[in-house]
Amino acid sequence: IEAMKTNSFGRRLKLIDVTTSTQEEMRLLAEQGAPSGSLIIAEEQTSGRGRQGRKWLSPPGKGIWMSLLLRPELPLTCAPQLTLLCAVAVCRAIRAVTGVDAGIKWPNDLLVQGRKVCGILIESVGEDELIRYCIAGIGIDVNLEPEDYPPELLAIATSLKMESGQDCNRAVLIGAVMNELEKLYELYVEQGFGPICHLWEALSITMGKEITVKTARGDIQGIAEGLDPSGALTLISKDGQRINIYSGEVQLGG
Ligand code: BTN
Repeated sequence: IEAMKTNSFGRRLKLIDVTTSTQEEMRLLAEQGAPSGSLIIAEEQTSGRGRQGRKWLSPPGKGIWMSLLLRPELPLTCAPQLTLLCAVAVCRAIRAVTGVDAGIKWPNDLLVQGRKVCGILIESVGEDELIRYCIAGIGIDVNLEPEDYPPELLAIATSLKMESGQDCNRAVLIGAVMNELEKLYELYVEQGFGPICHLWEALSITMGKEITVKTARGDIQGIAEGLDPSGALTLISKDGQRINIYSGEVQLGG
């Protein structure tokens, strides 16, 4: 990892050649008492996992497939805010290192011109309504080429290299992600969600736009207004109602 200026994030590091999923690797370490800020990076994952039971393509050597352990002393209800914080941190790092104009789709997908370049999976383990630990899984399509994607993914996914036309140094990007994550995490612990919320809204690609949210209870349409203090997405529906969304898939358009 290059140019890392952190105190704890990424300082305990485990590098793995091939694993099923860095999330599973980190779960084992977490249960063994690994400290907050521990990081596992894999060159390749054979069963990379995405949100909502989806698979995550993780070919060798071309992406950043990593899991960071966090042990915040917070109620479980704060986990969604940590999710949003991670998206802000990775988005800022990508922009700073590569110049690629990534934006956030609620809650924590990073898109470039409508195509996904990074996904974040936060798994929280709690006890008595408190967070025992969180595993922040971050997958960034760094140097993947079009031929690395199955055709159905090519329509919806992209890589930093495909967007910038240049190879991106993964060690530099990981350093930048750790720096941003630690900085924003400290800001969050000191000042709460307010400052993170503003940063998130400024990087969001959906703010003020018409969106459709697919939820377990059906589709909801409206104009994305912003985040509420808990991290929920606030929509204004056609009939003027304000609706908070706690989980679901956001699509741009009505
Ligand atoms: C998503 O957008 O659905 C989340 C994708 C998260 C992928 C990362 S790659 C590192 C970590 N290990 C996994 O198996 N998944 C996450």
